[in-house]
Amino acid sequence: MSVTIEAIKPRIGGRVLVDQKHLLDDEVVETVRAALEERGVLVFPQINVSDELQLAFTDRLGERVNFTRRVPGSDVSAPDVYKVTLDKKINKEPDYVLGTFFWHVDGVTMDMPLPKATVLSARHLSDTGGSTEFANLFAAYEALPEAEKRELEGLRVIHTLEASVRPVYGHPSQERLDRWRSMVDPMEHPLVWTHADGRKSLLIGTHADGIVGMGGAHGRALLCRLQQWAAQPDFVYRHDWQVGDLVIWNNEGLMHRVVPYTDTQRVMHRTSIGGHEKPGRIADAGAVAKLLEPT
Ligand SMILES: [Fe+2]
Repeated sequence: MSVTIEAIKPRIGGRVLVDQKHLLDDEVVETVRAALEERGVLVFPQINVSDELQLAFTDRLGERVNFTRRVPGSDVSAPDVYKVTLDKKINKEPDYVLGTFFWHVDGVTMDMPLPKATVLSARHLSDTGGSTEFANLFAAYEALPEAEKRELEGLRVIHTLEASVRPVYGHPSQERLDRWRSMVDPMEHPLVWTHADGRKSLLIGTHADGIVGMGGAHGRALLCRLQQWAAQPDFVYRHDWQVGDLVIWNNEGLMHRVVPYTDTQRVMHRTSIGGHEKPGRIADAGAVAKLLEPT
């Protein structure tokens, strides 16, 4: 056996012990794929992959996708490797990266199947923060009281780019608001996502802007409470990076955020694996307008 997986916490996290030269082996790929479903997030300590190997590994696990082509600051000439950094020489619009300080699921505000998994490798570390936290939204749903699960069933949530970057700006100018609104349409997703394999998870994050049919305050309060519930230590793994670590997580069932950092030296290389499940659709304009009303 050329690969071993150790659980990190009871409800989340796995450590993958494998030699770099075996990373693309069938046995390793199959083991990793299964462990990703079971453990949610997998760490390959100091495996030191090149971009080429990271892309090849991404391709072995699924269908490579670049959903950041439409994101400000992404380098369209790069071969599907997005550089996560506050360094303006590398990423022209790092404000998008500041949005990752807040809990989110990648790709939720795009009208496309959610990325199945995200792969991140550490090239340069921050000395002011930069750990990444992952919260298991399958486990968070599973642990809810049955009565609350019944109350949440059937609820629909509006997710907007505006909500995901609002914490970055606080009081954005009208010009910025107009720009965000012109970039992508608001999406409507189920609050409880029943996946193709029958498992259920919460689909929440900072991009969740309100609940269809509820006043803005009521919807946002419920979303806020659920986010706090899901972020409790039992469901969360925090990864403190070493240079060369590679981490892959099941983006369909985990939310993640980075511990804030201020320096421009941190550089992470990200690739994404496309998914096949599209839980939501573009939201009705009327449902979005209703979120502006408090009750
Ligand atoms: Fe992310």
